Amino acid sequence: MIKFCDDFFKIMRKINLGKTGEQIPILGQGTWGIKKGKNKEYYNSWKSSLRKGIELGMTHIDTAEFYGLGTSEKTVGEVIAEYDRDELFITSKLFPMHMGFNAMKKAAYRSLKRLGIKNFDLYLIHWPSPITSKQKQMKILDFLIKEGKARYVGVSNFSVEQFKKSQTYLNAELVTNQLHANITKQEHIVDSLPYYTEKGVTLTAYSPLGHRGYTSLKGELRETINKIAESHNATIQQIAIAWLINHKNVMSIPKAFHIKHVEENAKAADISLSETELKLIESNGTH
Ligand SMILES: NC(=O)c1ccc[n+]([C@@H]2O[C@H](COP(=O)([O-])OP(=O)(O)OC[C@H]3O[C@@H](n4cnc5c(N)ncnc54)[C@H](OP(=O)(O)O)[C@@H]3O)[C@@H](O)[C@H]2O)c1
Repeated sequence: MIKFCDDFFKIMRKINLGKTGEQIPILGQGTWGIKKGKNKEYYNSWKSSLRKGIELGMTHIDTAEFYGLGTSEKTVGEVIAEYDRDELFITSKLFPMHMGFNAMKKAAYRSLKRLGIKNFDLYLIHWPSPITSKQKQMKILDFLIKEGKARYVGVSNFSVEQFKKSQTYLNAELVTNQLHANITKQEHIVDSLPYYTEKGVTLTAYSPLGHRGYTSLKGELRETINKIAESHNATIQQIAIAWLINHKNVMSIPKAFHIKHVEENAKAADISLSETELKLIESNGTH
C-alpha cells in the first residue's frame, strides 16, 4: 500500500465541493479514453499515467460504467487498490438507459465491484434519461446515499432547468453538474455558472481540452492563447485548463494517456490568470 506523505497534499490546489464542507483537488483525472480489448502494454501505460496523476495530487478520478463498457472502472480499480482509499476521491456515473430502479441499483453495484470500493465518493447520473423519469433517477441517488454506497451525488449534462427540477425530487443535495465546458465551448461558464455559484453547487468542466487536446486550434483564439501562454511560460493546453479553474467554483478533469501531459496538466493548477486575460479568452472564444 502506497502511503501519502504530508508534502504530497501541498501540490494541488483544492476547491470546496458544493456545500459539503469537503475540499477536493481542483484538477482530477478523466478516464474516458480507456478502451476495451487492448493489450497489456496499453493498460500498463494507462495505469502509469493514473499513478503519476495521483502522485501529483490529482487524486480525484472520474470514470463511468459507460467508458470502455466497464474497462475504465476496472483499470481505475486496479490502480486505486495500491493506495490508501481515504486519500482518493472516486467519481463514477450511471448510464441513463437502465429501465427501472432495480436495473439502476444493479448497475451502480456492478460499478462498485469493478472499482473494488465500498462506496463512491461521488455518483452522477451521466445524462438526463430519455426513458426513465427524473424522479426515478433521483430515487436511486437517494437510495445509494441512504445505503452508504455514495457519499455525494450529482448529475451530468443537465440543463439548469433539469437540474432545478431534479433537486426538487431529492432529499440529498446535488453537489455538482458535470458539463462540457472549455475555451471553445464557453456557454456553461458564461451563462450557467452564476446559477450554480449562487446555489453552492460546483461546476465540473469536462473535456477541458476540447476532447482532442487543441492541437489544431486556430484563429484569433489561438493567437490570444499563444500570447498568454508565452507570458506565463506555459503551453496553450495549460492555459486552456487554467482558464476554467481560474473561475470561482469550477473544477476540471482533463484526460491524459501520456505522462508528459499528466505532468503539464497538474502544473496548470498553479497558473493564475488576470481578469484581463480571462476576459480576453472569453471574448475570443465561441459561446
Ligand atoms: N460527463 C460526460 O458526459 C463526459 C463527457 C466527456 C468527457 N467526460 C470526462 O472528462 C474527461 C476529460 O475529457 P475528454 O476525455 O473528452 O478530453 P480532454 O481532457 O478535453 O482532452 C483529452 C486530449 O487532450 C490531450 N492532452 C491532455 N493533456 C494535454 C496536454 N497537457 N498537452 C497536450 N495535449 C493534452 C490528450 O492526449 P493523451 O491522452 O494522448 O495524453 C487527449 O488527446 C473524460 O476523460 C471523462 O472522464 C465526461
